Amino acid sequence: MIFVLAVVCKCDVPDNITINFSQVIDMSIQTQNEKRITINTLKKMKQAGEKFAALTAYEYCGAHAASGAGVEVLLVGDSLGMVIQGHDSSLPVTIEDTAYHVRCVKRGNLGSLLVADLPFMSYYSASKSLENAAILMREGAQMVKLEGGAWLAESTRLLSERGIPVCAHMGLTPQSVNHLGGYRVQGRDPEQGQAIIKEAKVLEEAGASVILIECVPAKLGEWLTESLDIPVIGIGAGPGTDGQILVWHDLLGLYPGKTAKFVKNFLAGNTEGVHGALRDYVAAVKNGTFPSEEHTYS
Ligand code: KIV
Repeated sequence: MIFVLAVVCKCDVPDNITINFSQVIDMSIQTQNEKRITINTLKKMKQAGEKFAALTAYEYCGAHAASGAGVEVLLVGDSLGMVIQGHDSSLPVTIEDTAYHVRCVKRGNLGSLLVADLPFMSYYSASKSLENAAILMREGAQMVKLEGGAWLAESTRLLSERGIPVCAHMGLTPQSVNHLGGYRVQGRDPEQGQAIIKEAKVLEEAGASVILIECVPAKLGEWLTESLDIPVIGIGAGPGTDGQILVWHDLLGLYPGKTAKFVKNFLAGNTEGVHGALRDYVAAVKNGTFPSEEHTYS
């Protein structure tokens, strides 16, 4: 894009006028950056007490619509195994599947922070996590998400030292559904709740940029958010987290299977269709009306 601009300018400019191309290039980069959400944007929002909205995205039009509606974070989630591929869990998703969807989302993204999930068993060692995270980053991801607790510290340290921002997904970790015995609320037992906070601090210390917490009592979501300097994104973790995330198909009421208590269909009754639903979701997250008590665990 910048190269094309430089060539066009050169053809149109009379011989006696000189153009400083470095100025043209600098301006172009600045304009792009002004629209771009980065990890620094999220940190500043946390410090200012401003909520941010996140949403899963899997393809061009959805990414374009969500990003255009003001969603700050787009996640190419391994939920794609269920909502795109029709499996009953996220376990069959491969790094190639994820890379394909990152490429599609990248083309539609208007400046949201693009996060991608490292699939099941693609980060069983620190070196494996680096190898697979590099694949997703080359395709356009700007952060990778890994599921787990303190055991992720080594991978988190290695990735962040090598310039790859990490989001650690804690609480209900769907890749461990077989070990957890189902999709259940986590951290209700006070000891388990304390352990989640302690392990999140270990990951923050190891260099994690964001924590995503799923399906825990609202009080735990709030304590975790207060305990950490890095932004916390919640799904089914109550209104006290810095950001909220939903799965695209849940927000539009498209998933034919059973949905969790924390899901809200923003398309139902919306007179402005999908774009209206996306705008309403962003507004509800920012003004604190979503999640309300009916979407929250105690
Ligand atoms: O894969 C996914 O969509 C996720 C969300 C549940 C946050 O991890």
